[in-house]
Amino acid sequence: MRGRIPDSFIDELLARVDIVDVIERRVPLKKAGREWTACCPFHNERTPSFYVSPAKQFFHCFGCGAHGSAVKFLMDYERLEFPDAVEELAQSVGLTVPREGGDDRVQREDKTDLYALLDAAAGWYEKELPKNADAQAYCKKRGLDAQTIQRFRIGWAPAGFDGVIKALGGSDRRMQLLNEAGMVASSERGSRYDRFRERLMFPILDRRGRVIAFGGRVLQSDQGPKYLNSPETPLFHKGRELFALWQVKQANASLTRIVVVEGYMDVIAMHQAGLPIAVATLGTATTPEHTEVLFRAAPDVVFCFDGDRAGRAAAWKALEAALPRLRDGRQAYFLFLPDGEDPDTLIRKEGKDGFEKRLKAATPLSEYFFGELAHDVDTASLDGRARLAERARPLIARLPDGAFRDLMAQELEKRTGARATLDTLPAPRSALQRPTVAQRSLVRSAIASLLAQPGMADQVERPYGFLRLDKPGVELLAELIDTARSRPGINPAVLVEHFAERPEYPALQKLMAALVVGEPEAQRAEFFGALQRMEEQAVIQRRDWLTAKSRDGTLDSAEKAELRELLARRVTTPPA
Ligand code: CTP
Ligand code: MN
Repeated sequence: MRGRIPDSFIDELLARVDIVDVIERRVPLKKAGREWTACCPFHNERTPSFYVSPAKQFFHCFGCGAHGSAVKFLMDYERLEFPDAVEELAQSVGLTVPREGGDDRVQREDKTDLYALLDAAAGWYEKELPKNADAQAYCKKRGLDAQTIQRFRIGWAPAGFDGVIKALGGSDRRMQLLNEAGMVASSERGSRYDRFRERLMFPILDRRGRVIAFGGRVLQSDQGPKYLNSPETPLFHKGRELFALWQVKQANASLTRIVVVEGYMDVIAMHQAGLPIAVATLGTATTPEHTEVLFRAAPDVVFCFDGDRAGRAAAWKALEAALPRLRDGRQAYFLFLPDGEDPDTLIRKEGKDGFEKRLKAATPLSEYFFGELAHDVDTASLDGRARLAERARPLIARLPDGAFRDLMAQELEKRTGARATLDTLPAPRSALQRPTVAQRSLVRSAIASLLAQPGMADQVERPYGFLRLDKPGVELLAELIDTARSRPGINPAVLVEHFAERPEYPALQKLMAALVVGEPEAQRAEFFGALQRMEEQAVIQRRDWLTAKSRDGTLDSAEKAELRELLARRVTTPPA
């Protein structure tokens, strides 16, 4: 066991780091008053509800509720365990994490040792490579230059059953670690032997550049499965890791585009040819976790596949994995290669420029999406269009809320005449003539429905006629509308948070808590209905006041004219 990290150290560490720095390095932040804001990295959203407070050294998302300190952020964002998040933070400010209790030698024997052991294994394979003529010849045949071999730490696992065991498994503890790291396999009789033998070794690095697993390729096709990968281990989860992401990040300070290809050699060939923007999944389909990692690395992701059936199936899987992650600003493209080619062979034939041309001509997701869904339906027929709509709707529904989703829905409507969502029905006129409620609750009802759909603020006519109504809450309503107007797409919780320092805040929160998110159209009708009623009330209020004044004979000429005009409008007092 590693010793415990003393609480006092955590306090010191949190005093030393600035949460804004820590987050900004991973999620671009925008200044918002005294705080910083961004679209939340922990859920899909179109408008920022993620806030970072330098004063409180705290982050909070009003959308999904994620919150905490810099350590908590690292745990959530980098998926680190608490001690590792503390280590990482400490490193960033040059502190060493002290440990309570436990002797030093034992302390180093845990996860860190697993990393150290895998690193040593990679080093050992690297040293073996120059010793084996066949392996050398193979590298040459595949066109791998010395720099590439070094950059990817390509190595050789020699023949025999205990090379790694002899080199690294010197103690029970080390054997146990080799086993945990997936470097050894067990026979039926329980004896341990090297998992990787006579294979060209490709270390798989995590996003901090640490070796967490290996892929190994045979030199000849009759020597068992072409590639053998490490099994899932405490450090290696195939569905999350991408081969060469570390190298991509090392080679590019900022990335606008990342390309996902199918194989180790494809990635390596692209890097060597001067396109260090390629990664690969590790013998698995693209998962939603992969796509999140990809989009965090670059806003544009190109999925590159063989043009054959398997490639097409893999591409569609990638599309499905990408859909929920396609918030605004992110774009996915698909590139299918000619039969019998892969990026490795193509880039050797066509060079960097040729391959870049292909990348630039990649098909945008929307086009691939509709093309694929429509390829066996007759969109000239009603039935065909219905089928297309039926297929597309549930997929479009998986897109996060945002402009892209709206565009896809529009595109579907254009292609099929069917609406992708149900909330586009025309307003029921009758809802405008709801029984009138008392004036105070008219204001309440306007505020409540605005909170449910802040986007409606945009359509309120200016100047605000309802402001003439002399009732509590009217000014607040105007401010809410102004705030919502100035922040298109603001979500209700954030809107309310703008009033955090105000006496009305508790009342607004109560309204929020009681908010029933109903049919958007009904809410719309309620909101504009309430505003209209309030204006009518204001007119009545003014007319009554002027009438009373005229009885006293104190109206000036402008007021007289106004009263005449108001009486001519014959606004009726609504039933109480
Ligand atoms: N793969 C695997 N296990 C296999 C075969 C393939 O894990 N038995 C994975 C590897 O990640 C490999 C990728 O699938 O890189 C693509 O495989 P394939 O197209 O067969 O190989 P290439 O990448 O073209 O490899 P090479 O060029 O070395 O033949
Ligand atoms: Mn290949």
